[in-house]
Amino acid sequence: MIGVFFKTYGCQANVADSQGLMRYLQDLGCSIADKESDADLIVINSCAIRAKAEQKMFSYLGALSEYKKQKPYVRIGVIGCVASYKKDEMFGRFDHLNFVFGAREDMSTFRSYLFDLITMLETSKQLFGQSPSRVIAPGQDRDIEHLVQTRQQRISHSALQPKPLPLSPVQEITNHEVKRSFINIMTGCNNYCTYCIVPFTRGREKSYSMKSIIDRARREVADGSKEITLIGQNVNSYKDPDTGSSFAQLLKNVAKIDGDFWVRYTSPHPKDMTRDVLEVMAEYKDKLSDWVHMPLQAGSDRVLSLMGRPYTVERYMEVIGWIREILPEATLTTDIIVGFPGETEEEYQGTRDVMEHVCYDHVYSFIYSKRKYTKAYSMSDDCFKEVKQERLEGLQKRQKQICLERNRRLIGRTMRILVEKRLSHGKLLARTSGNVRVLLDGHDELIGSFVRVIIEKAGIANIEGSLI
Ligand code: SAH
Ligand code: SF4
Ligand code: F3S
Repeated sequence: MIGVFFKTYGCQANVADSQGLMRYLQDLGCSIADKESDADLIVINSCAIRAKAEQKMFSYLGALSEYKKQKPYVRIGVIGCVASYKKDEMFGRFDHLNFVFGAREDMSTFRSYLFDLITMLETSKQLFGQSPSRVIAPGQDRDIEHLVQTRQQRISHSALQPKPLPLSPVQEITNHEVKRSFINIMTGCNNYCTYCIVPFTRGREKSYSMKSIIDRARREVADGSKEITLIGQNVNSYKDPDTGSSFAQLLKNVAKIDGDFWVRYTSPHPKDMTRDVLEVMAEYKDKLSDWVHMPLQAGSDRVLSLMGRPYTVERYMEVIGWIREILPEATLTTDIIVGFPGETEEEYQGTRDVMEHVCYDHVYSFIYSKRKYTKAYSMSDDCFKEVKQERLEGLQKRQKQICLERNRRLIGRTMRILVEKRLSHGKLLARTSGNVRVLLDGHDELIGSFVRVIIEKAGIANIEGSLI
């Protein structure tokens, strides 16, 4: 049996893509490996959002060359967002790399390629087992398009359809974790925020049909999934290509699926957020997670406008007001960029002011990273690296205090939580509907179930509770 190891970087769109491919490979009879040493095929799903994310991926890829020397038949490939725009560079830099397939390319072509690859791998793995010296490191399969075309010609010549490989029983992707499913409801992005590479790596926005999303969610729930996360770069602009239905209608229909599970979604855009989404969340609160991620990016109208984010701080605060009104207990999180080209100290303080007013439960904060192809790439930037670093640290330090205050308010409450897994220090990790991490003691059998706890302690990143 061919073992496949996935290393997934980046956002949940990548997690969803990796999950989809894992399923496909399992249907072809492969097993999903927990570590590289158990794998015959290693797939790296890459992220290009910030320079750091890319560097991390490149050093991981570099380190795999040693591993390939020991097992030369192993295939290694990079897919995802870096693969979209650095294919040639990667092939030039890494001899041990077999394939690169970008996030904008047609997934069905890639699946056909994987189909052939698995068949080839079965033979080379067998050969390697019998006589390791006979297997040379193959680099000739780098041109996916060419390979797939040749294969299609071969098929049409012989009028043969590809036969599915023998099916193995579908295995769980993870052994001791709750089953969570990430479903892409759309791909790409049309917003072209001036700092962001996503529209270039993932292409134009395209919504998937509501029927296919609902079918998929139904299957996931029937398969034991306890948490469905709907993924898109701008979920509020979702529009069913068949019926024109909106994101609120989609949420409602997912919530109506029978079963005991939670539904989360990410990310909405402040410019497109509408009250009906929040009203559906309130109406179906047993199913729809009490959590809204509302990316702010910056707390200054001038910076927002330079970023190509078409909302003002006032409008953003209006949306926050709706959330507090319709979902008073909701967890609120955000994304913030500090040090955008030309950001002044005063403008940075504007961001800090919004943080004070909103009191987020969690903030994902980043130093601006210059990205090729984007509009901000050529903007002049007179702010020193050290200043940007200080801004980030100041913001994170204050946010930790706010997190603690927010978490402390939960002490004494009885909450329904979903138990996810056991952590290395022995406690179970669970989450509330609002996505707050909860630590608790208990047996392994609780993993994957909803239980009630009373919250007794609160820290910055977790709260702790006891079963009732
Ligand atoms: N589509 C989502 C987020 C996608 S990327 C949205 O618009 O909210 C996740 C986060 O990464 C962004 O919200 C932004 O805060 C951050 N980010 C994107 N490009 C960046 C860059 N060039 N430098 C630093 N942070 C960036
Ligand atoms: Fe990037 Fe903006 Fe699209 Fe989010 S909305 S993916 S930040 S371009
Ligand atoms: Fe990264 Fe691509 Fe997501 S750049 S954040 S993996 S869309």
